[in-house]
Amino acid sequence: MTPRSPGRRGFVGFAGGLGAAAAIARPSFGAGADGPGSPGSGVPGPRPAELVAAPASARLVGDLAGPTPVWAFNGTVPGPLLRLKRDEVLDVELVNRLPDPTTIHWHGLRVPNAMDGVPHLTQPPVEPGGRFRYRFACPDSGTYWYHPHAGAPEQVDRGLYAALVVEDVDPPPVDREIVWVLDDWRLTREARIVEDFYAFFDVAHAGRVGNTVTVNGRLGDAEAVRAGERVRLRIVNVANARIFALRFEGHRPWLLALDGQPLPRPRRLEPDEPVLVGPGMRTDLVLDCDGEPGARYRVVDGFVRSNAYRVLDLAYATGGPVRAARREPPRAPAPNPLAEPEPGRDPLRVELRLGGGAMGGTRPPDPPQEREARRARRLAGSREADPAWSVNGHAHLHHGHGHPFEFTVERGRTVVLTMRNDTAWWHPMHLHGHTYRELERDGRPVDGRPWRDTSLMAPRETLQVAFVADNPGDWILHCHVLEHHAGGLGAQFRVL
Ligand code: C2O
Ligand code: CU
Ligand code: CU
Repeated sequence: MTPRSPGRRGFVGFAGGLGAAAAIARPSFGAGADGPGSPGSGVPGPRPAELVAAPASARLVGDLAGPTPVWAFNGTVPGPLLRLKRDEVLDVELVNRLPDPTTIHWHGLRVPNAMDGVPHLTQPPVEPGGRFRYRFACPDSGTYWYHPHAGAPEQVDRGLYAALVVEDVDPPPVDREIVWVLDDWRLTREARIVEDFYAFFDVAHAGRVGNTVTVNGRLGDAEAVRAGERVRLRIVNVANARIFALRFEGHRPWLLALDGQPLPRPRRLEPDEPVLVGPGMRTDLVLDCDGEPGARYRVVDGFVRSNAYRVLDLAYATGGPVRAARREPPRAPAPNPLAEPEPGRDPLRVELRLGGGAMGGTRPPDPPQEREARRARRLAGSREADPAWSVNGHAHLHHGHGHPFEFTVERGRTVVLTMRNDTAWWHPMHLHGHTYRELERDGRPVDGRPWRDTSLMAPRETLQVAFVADNPGDWILHCHVLEHHAGGLGAQFRVL
């Protein structure tokens, strides 16, 4: 195993005693730092006609250090928040001013296959200096995001990402809406990105977990709120690998939507119940600001319990409440027009075994010719991972285009997909082009069978989902720990 690079030493302290699956570092910037001000609440400007991917610089840690050289869409991290109405057409041209080929993937949106942004499978990568026009209607309301799918472990990590909101047809009334784009960075003391992308240690363990957590591209200090407000909070986890379990101290938010899809009835979280958001996943909450004017309440990530840290504070203005408490449950947004899977009517049953990784996983095959070819590509400047993971025994590596299809299904048929996590690690599994219902975990029905496009699987867990394969084309499904996908944790399927 490759030792961790010296650049990380001193920042990353791994939690001991929890087993490898929970080896998550506590961020070093931000722990108790009284840093920069409130993260932006994501108010969109006019919709851009172009998304220019280019090097830029960002004040991620305020005045503590930096600025940080990043890669960004239109010069900011996150990139422009895109806000559309349901069925509205997004028409935007990607302009590549990066030194590397890129694409844009519209995470969670059911786009036509040619717009999905998967290099070599749905489009050729956009070369440096090149352009590509993305144009499609947004069929579903909800919280989504966009990011490159070429060289993703590096490009997303360097700052290429942004939220995309498709407004509800008849949104539940709130006073205000806030978007939190959560990211995790591996920074040096000078706040420069440690450039050890694809390090085999990360690929084969928990992915590239960093040491600095940002909210909307800034070290989280405070989100200003007013007593009595009802706020809709759209949370997007764009981190390569960090899983968040957010606790809102002193508050009991309502769970409104998962991956953009509304629950039939919003559910109030239990006191101290965490909101689990893995990489790629989104959660919409309605937050009733019932705190005391002038007080601060912490929002804590306790995914690794022994290593909980403050992500930011809810900071109440000193003035009196904007209204007397009126706390009827929020109304659910209208459901999206998703085809209902029919697992009882001759579905295609597919089983995917996730294998590999450190701590007991078997390494997937890596024939000497392939190892040799990889060495040659690396000498020529390519950056890629060694195989560490498999799905049904194959590693789905980015450089091996022309993968076999794990399954092929006629358009309109229900697919019942059973994923078995035969590894010692967490995996947020993500499906392209479709939205599925979670049916069962370890054989037990999932409450409410929520719609999702990304599901967090615990070590050794089995998850069964179902969807109607109604979007023709060649698609992928993969772990959204970007290093895991780069190391082989993915598969291709075809809808005829
Ligand atoms: Cu966020 Cu393959 O996607
Ligand atoms: Cu996606
Ligand atoms: Cu994974």
